[in-house]
Amino acid sequence: MRKTVVGDVDAGVLRFTAGEDCALDAALIEADCIGTAAHVAALAAAPVRPPLLAAREARRVTAELVNIMRRARAGRFRIRIEDQDVHLAVERALTRRLGDLGRKVHAGRSRNDQVATDLRLYGRDQLIGVMGETASLARALAVMGRRNEMLPMAGRTHMRPAMPGSVGLWASAHAESLLDDAVALRAAYDVNDASPLGSAAGYGSPLELDRKRTARRLGFRRAHANVLYASNSRGKCEAAILSALAQVMLSLSRLAEDLVLYSAPEFGYFELPAGFCTGSSIMPQKSNPDVPELVRAKAARVLACAAAAASVVKSLPSGYHRDLQETKDPFLTGLRETRACLRVMLPLIRGLRPCRKALLAGFAPGVFAADRALELVLRGVPFRAAYRRVKADLAALEARDPREAVALRMRRGTARIDFADLRRRESALRRFAATERRRRDRAVSRLLGTEYPSLAGRARA
Ligand code: ARG
Repeated sequence: MRKTVVGDVDAGVLRFTAGEDCALDAALIEADCIGTAAHVAALAAAPVRPPLLAAREARRVTAELVNIMRRARAGRFRIRIEDQDVHLAVERALTRRLGDLGRKVHAGRSRNDQVATDLRLYGRDQLIGVMGETASLARALAVMGRRNEMLPMAGRTHMRPAMPGSVGLWASAHAESLLDDAVALRAAYDVNDASPLGSAAGYGSPLELDRKRTARRLGFRRAHANVLYASNSRGKCEAAILSALAQVMLSLSRLAEDLVLYSAPEFGYFELPAGFCTGSSIMPQKSNPDVPELVRAKAARVLACAAAAASVVKSLPSGYHRDLQETKDPFLTGLRETRACLRVMLPLIRGLRPCRKALLAGFAPGVFAADRALELVLRGVPFRAAYRRVKADLAALEARDPREAVALRMRRGTARIDFADLRRRESALRRFAATERRRRDRAVSRLLGTEYPSLAGRARA
């Protein structure tokens, strides 16, 4: 038997039920302290006599929470198996330092609204990061596109040469894909932007804790209208975020697959930057595209994380269930892997070199066939007749110039790239991320009484 705050539990059962929490919850220590600071502020502000917590006491707890955050940053805060999770570990640390005062903080809350709040705080931070990183990668792709707007690159369908295209078209297509994903990220951010704190175990409490004020203290735009839904949204909110991340990863996966293919010697369209390839232990000549290959595989992983979280929620009735704990790992993993991919792809794209010679060599004559048919259309031949005529004499296409074909469709035709639109969307995304970061920092700094995220300066005690 092992003694825990919430009862004596068989040691094996404790290990099973705590699962990976002692390790995973390390990511939530700061969020748990911030959430606890907001709860403590609500306790102190409750309009009752005697007060649930005196203002002075609330400040002492908050100062100690800042201390715990600093210790965690220095790697000096451990979650033990007896704690089960970060929530009871923080309560234990508070009680050890503050005695009875530490024993007061859990009034009117449950670990259920506590963990839900932690995950929303964590999700908010991470999404702000993801949005910034998505904007940067979209920008790098658009810049590459602009620089190589007219550099011919055979367009393909079914992987077979199809129509004249350009490196500009290729690179900025991937930029636009990421900007579309940002729409999903933004929607997930809005879903996440609500405070569950005060919903307790899903049914509120008789204490007069102002949930809307708590939400404002945490820098969330709203509190849930319904405490039971606040509880039910656990896991579902994570699934919404993961599904947005899955979209990002689908974009990265396609980009990665293109890179693997087009940097292979048979194509040679692009040269990956030095330092981004790895060798073989047996084949001296090898230089392998491990980075895009891993990005491609990590897309599978993030998609699986999204499916895992949604699958847990799928079979749950209303209220808290321990099943929800199993959504934490996919949530943290999905965020971590997506961000790692966005980050590694940025310098790769910035250092990517198009190889003009190979790109031009990729223009099989057939690539010009449709264009030739459309020339005949301009001279009054009905399209289907022109199509047949070109098909009958494909050899005549031999001497065409890819540069001309590209210029025609990109300047006069329909393939012109709206770089201004890409730029607008990318800046809007970057601005949104920056604004939300400032909102968060302002709210949390005020709440903790010390500058956040630096935690520089003394907390007011
Ligand atoms: N580690 C738990 C989780 O992630 C915390 C909540 C525990 N609540 C409970 N009623 N057992 O869900």
